[in-house]
Parts: sequence; C-alpha cells; structure tokens
Amino acid sequence: MTDLFSPVSLGSIQLKNRMVMAPLTRNRAGTGNVPTDLNALYYQQRASAGLIITEATPISAMAHGYPATPGIHTPAQVEGWKKVVQAVHAQGGKIVLQLWHVGRISHPSLLPDNALPVAPSAIKPAGQAFTYQGLQDFVTPRALELAELPGIVADYAAATKHALEAGFDGVEVHAANGYLLDQFLRDGSNKRTDQYGGSLENRSRLLL
Ligand SMILES: Cc1cc2nc3c(=O)[nH]c(=O)nc-3n(C[C@H](O)[C@H](O)[C@H](O)COP(=O)(O)O)c2cc1C
Repeated sequence: MTDLFSPVSLGSIQLKNRMVMAPLTRNRAGTGNVPTDLNALYYQQRASAGLIITEATPISAMAHGYPATPGIHTPAQVEGWKKVVQAVHAQGGKIVLQLWHVGRISHPSLLPDNALPVAPSAIKPAGQAFTYQGLQDFVTPRALELAELPGIVADYAAATKHALEAGFDGVEVHAANGYLLDQFLRDGSNKRTDQYGGSLENRSRLLL
C-alpha cells in the first residue's frame, strides 16, 4: 500500500509526497512581468506539496494575454524566477515551470507595439480579454505564416533553457484551455490548409 505521504519518482524528479499543486495564474508579477519577492513567498508557503506546477508563464513577448503574468523570456525574469526556485528548494519542495503561449486569447494593448494576437487562423474568439484598462473585446487575430512556426518552437526551446538556468526541476507544456497549442489542436479554431491544419495528425504537429 502507498499513501499520499509516501515518496514517488516522477520521471527523473524525486517527490517527497504525492501531492501536486495545480498551475494557478495569480497576476502578481512586478514591472516587466518579473517575478518578485512576493511571488517567492507565495510559492515558498506552498512548498510542502511534493511538486508545484507554476502559474502559466509566457514564453515570449507575443505569448502574453493577461496583466502581470511573470514571463520567462528576459534576463530579469530569469533572475526573478531564481528567487522563487531557491525559496521552494530551501523547503525541500520541487517545482516545474508551466510554459504558455496564449495565441488569440490576448489583446493588442498587452502586446509589443500593439501587435495583433497570433493564432492558427484569423478567427476572433468570443468574449473579452483582461487588460490593464479593464475588460476589452477580443480582436480578430493574425494567422501565423507557415514560415513563423519554427520560431514558435524555438521560443518554447529558449524558454525551457531559461527555466533550467533558473533552476527549475522541469517544465510543463500548457497545451489546453483554449490557448495557442489548443487552438491548433481544435478544428473550430484551426482552419489551416497547410501541414498544420486539417487532419488530427496535422493539427497536433505544432505541439508534438
Ligand atoms: C484562478 C485560476 C487560475 C488558473 N490558472 C491556470 C494556469 O495558469 N494554468 C493551467 O493549466 N490551469 C490553470 N487553472 C486551472 C487549474 O489548474 C485546474 O486545472 C482547474 O481549476 C480544475 O481543477 P479543480 O477541479 O481542482 O478546480 C486555473 C484555475 C483557476 C481557478
């Protein structure tokens, strides 16, 4: 018999117990979407879990879709996350970073130079974006060019390197909840006619 309090290996990560904290967006990053001492305290307070999965963390400037979400694409953000990881490790906890690209679930006011959000296809989502100016209607996103897709994969790779540099025990790829990778997976938001749209295999290509 095992119980919740017995250790377990999750791949190469040794957990002191079997409780895993779900990823939870908190919107508490500081200026420049940099994790601060407040974020370190928040995660340290929860480090008795066997594993913490962090809040979803944008992999690039174009991956943001909510105010004050801590990124993993600038040197200052990496330094900020180091404080979080050290705080959790000091309590004997383990922590993996959830990698995030929101795709069309964003708003120009949250993106560099008021850019249009990107998506598999130029289809406006229903609803409103949380912005620094309050709720604003989603806009029709720009469909990513075929030639841009290797750059998205490279952004995930760079974010993973940054996460390891910050000391994380691993990363989780957020591929659900209607964000970019899920937008590719679903035939309602993916109307592409190239090798990233159509069949299930094609719609899965970016994620895989
Ligand atoms: C405030 C809030 C923020 C969340 N943020 C994330 C997130 O950043 N990444 C993610 O994958 N899921 C996120 N979720 C989903 C939760 O991790 C969880 O999967 C969901 O709440 C279902 O679990 P439950 O049935 O125990 O509530 C969030 C949920 C809530 C309520």
